[in-house]
Amino acid sequence: MNTTAPPPGDAGALGATRPLLVRTAAELAALGSRLLAQAPATDGPRRLGLVPTMGALHAGHEHLVSAARAENDVVVVSVFVNRLQFDDPADFERYPRDLEADRALLASAGADIVFAPEEPEIYPGGAPLVRLSSGTLGEKFEGASRPGHFDGMLAVVAKLLHIAQPSSLTPVPVEYSAYFGQKDAQQLAIVRRLVTDLSYPVRIRAVPIVRSAEGLALSSRNQFLTPEQADAALVLSRALFLLADRAAAHEALMIDEAEDLIGSQPLVELDYLEVVDPDTLEPLAFNCRETPFTGGALVLVAARTGQVRLIDNMLLGDAAD
Ligand code: PAF
Repeated sequence: MNTTAPPPGDAGALGATRPLLVRTAAELAALGSRLLAQAPATDGPRRLGLVPTMGALHAGHEHLVSAARAENDVVVVSVFVNRLQFDDPADFERYPRDLEADRALLASAGADIVFAPEEPEIYPGGAPLVRLSSGTLGEKFEGASRPGHFDGMLAVVAKLLHIAQPSSLTPVPVEYSAYFGQKDAQQLAIVRRLVTDLSYPVRIRAVPIVRSAEGLALSSRNQFLTPEQADAALVLSRALFLLADRAAAHEALMIDEAEDLIGSQPLVELDYLEVVDPDTLEPLAFNCRETPFTGGALVLVAARTGQVRLIDNMLLGDAAD
């Protein structure tokens, strides 16, 4: 972040109710530096956490922000609906936008700054000509049904990680982290690869999936399920817990049985259930089926109930520790 003159509006009034709203990268840099400089001194570095979102915030986002709040002096939440990651322009137009409701949720979750840029702030030259590719990681699983989605996601995440990084002018050392939900395991793997491949100076923190008491992974799509469908969808987490228990006991995973369990629920149509390496998302054929499970893995599942497509996943064995 480059520090400039003190910003206008919310960002100029540090006593104002948090989260303080900023609209530009320059405002974010100036305000972030001021809040970091004011954070209580400790022996270690000050810490800044970024939570990228597209707004329409719900309880799942609240957990991301709470995780960032617990680990950082300054918590920045970006709210930006990224046109480039939508396959259908109509979906982009329809996407819910309610900054005041988002700010209310962020206030209770403890965010310090909400960065809500307009499109030209993020894409000043219009649609970017220079693009990032998520390669083979972005082509499979969710990428297979949404071509280009992960490349579009990378375009904005690369930009947000860059814009929100603590300014070299901040007069104290700062540790920089960014928070992503484990629920979107493929997005998380791709973002980790972005940070490794392009040497971004940020720690990527995965925030565990939040589940209902019955086990359903929290998602904004759950609101579209009838009670009957929501009940049927529980078969997904049951299948994941079955595999996790077997992995923990170093038994053969017997994936077919997990698939059969899902198949036994007529309201649920399985798309994929795959045990993969958590970083490369390559299938782990060697120890999943009949041989005792060792090491770590990630199991990904996607299914449809009625019109609603649901995804879920679970880390297995050593990867769950
Ligand atoms: O997970 C999301 O909400 C979006 O993909 C993200 C990371 C905010 C990028 O637009």
